[in-house]
Amino acid sequence: MSGKMSLVVLAAGKGTRLKMDFPKPLAPLHKRTLIDYVIDSLQNLGDFNFIVGHQNELVEEHIKNNFSSKMSFNFIEQKEQLGTGHAVRTYFEGSEDADSYEYTLVTCADTPLLTKDIFEKLLVEIQKGYDGVCATFKTENPFGYGRIKRYNKGFEIVEQKDGNPDDLKINEVNSGVYIFKTAYLKEHVYGLSSDNKAGEFYLTDTFKREANVVPVLFDDKRKFLGVNDLLQLSEAERGLIIESTRYLLTEVGVRVLDPSHTYIYSKNIGRNSVIHPNVTIDENCVIGSGVTIEPGCFLENAVIEDGAHIKANTYITDSIVRKKAKVGPMAHLRPGSDIGEGSKLGNFVEIKKSIIGKNTSISHLSYVGDAEIGDQVNLGCGFITCNYDGANKHKTIIGDGSFIGSDTQMIAPIEIGKECYVASGSTINKSMVDGSFAIARGRQETKEGMARKFIKKKS
Ligand code: UD1
Ligand code: CA
Repeated sequence: MSGKMSLVVLAAGKGTRLKMDFPKPLAPLHKRTLIDYVIDSLQNLGDFNFIVGHQNELVEEHIKNNFSSKMSFNFIEQKEQLGTGHAVRTYFEGSEDADSYEYTLVTCADTPLLTKDIFEKLLVEIQKGYDGVCATFKTENPFGYGRIKRYNKGFEIVEQKDGNPDDLKINEVNSGVYIFKTAYLKEHVYGLSSDNKAGEFYLTDTFKREANVVPVLFDDKRKFLGVNDLLQLSEAERGLIIESTRYLLTEVGVRVLDPSHTYIYSKNIGRNSVIHPNVTIDENCVIGSGVTIEPGCFLENAVIEDGAHIKANTYITDSIVRKKAKVGPMAHLRPGSDIGEGSKLGNFVEIKKSIIGKNTSISHLSYVGDAEIGDQVNLGCGFITCNYDGANKHKTIIGDGSFIGSDTQMIAPIEIGKECYVASGSTINKSMVDGSFAIARGRQETKEGMARKFIKKKS
């Protein structure tokens, strides 16, 4: 096992302060749970052991369902939560091969913003020959965190409840992320006492003055946010967004007009794009350069190519908008939509599972479902594909260069050739060959002077 670390994730706590019906590791963050982020940041660093307690079946089931294909792991139940030190003791008692790892990493399930580089840096530090290293950061508001008391050799961690006024003034704090030499950890975790204000076995007491242990100070305190209550959960949610938004603003050159009112989880946005307020862009979106996304848009699993313009209040899921296309305002692209280069979709246009060619225009109030629309097609206002017969969905095909007048319905399955012309107000239920014209509406009769008979005046 040498070279590989044992990873011990403390996830037994109840999370009482969160006031939610979830065990804390499963508290929701963006579309996932707290512990998912911790697991992601630890991937490939070693072998996972989860210390579970409160509602352990739920936590175990969640991890099995979401991570079984990526990694193997052990669950160890801590029946009574007697403190973080006790949790690590439980680990040694529950894991047969714990002693075979040179290093043991310990972290908590409630710190979702940690990134892999933090663990990697700690690993580099301990490999310099220390018995234990602890990630620390400085904060103006250290309340609740263990304070780091540095000495010439070794250091101690003083918990909030136990500190004297001088200790509590210290602003360097314990993040709860550690790597130990396994032999040192095991020896000291069995020497812990619960003689403190909380009556718990503190893992933090394994760090001592004169011991061969060091605190490793990190700059970016935002990453160490521990989630104990709903206020911190909302800070974590914002933390995810801040991370990607900052990257886009500082590294890429995306104009995010109001970062505090924008919900961007993706880092895949190109230079010179502009994101207006109240826009949500999820982590799977890929957005090109020179794209404008106006206020109120929601984008999930969307690809938006260079120079496209997404106008206000447009909703896009699992779809592609190609170069320089214009979509919205108030358009709805449902899964499987592919909007061709230079095409234009206007207000109240809904597209589902359809391919729209290049430079095609669907400017107002239309529904296009299960369709293939060619290049340079014009679909007039109020165009509708009647794609569903109550049991099955059917396809509509319209060839390049066709002009479909306003208020037309196409009863699918149907195929309209290239350069066809359909008169306004038609209900088309027969396919048309290239170049044909169709009109399918009641014939108009005009009777002069007869209007008088029908116009009623209020008495
Ligand atoms: C802990 C540290 C504190 C540090 C802070 C960072 C101790 C004594 N204190 O305090 O120095 O600044 O984290 O966020 O370690 N857990 C178990 N079993 C238990 C107790 C806790 O699995 O018996 C788990 C919890 O589920 C949680 C983690 O350990 O994931 C930390 O416990 P928590 O009570 O949140 O500790 P803090 O008070 O935050
Ligand atoms: Ca905590």
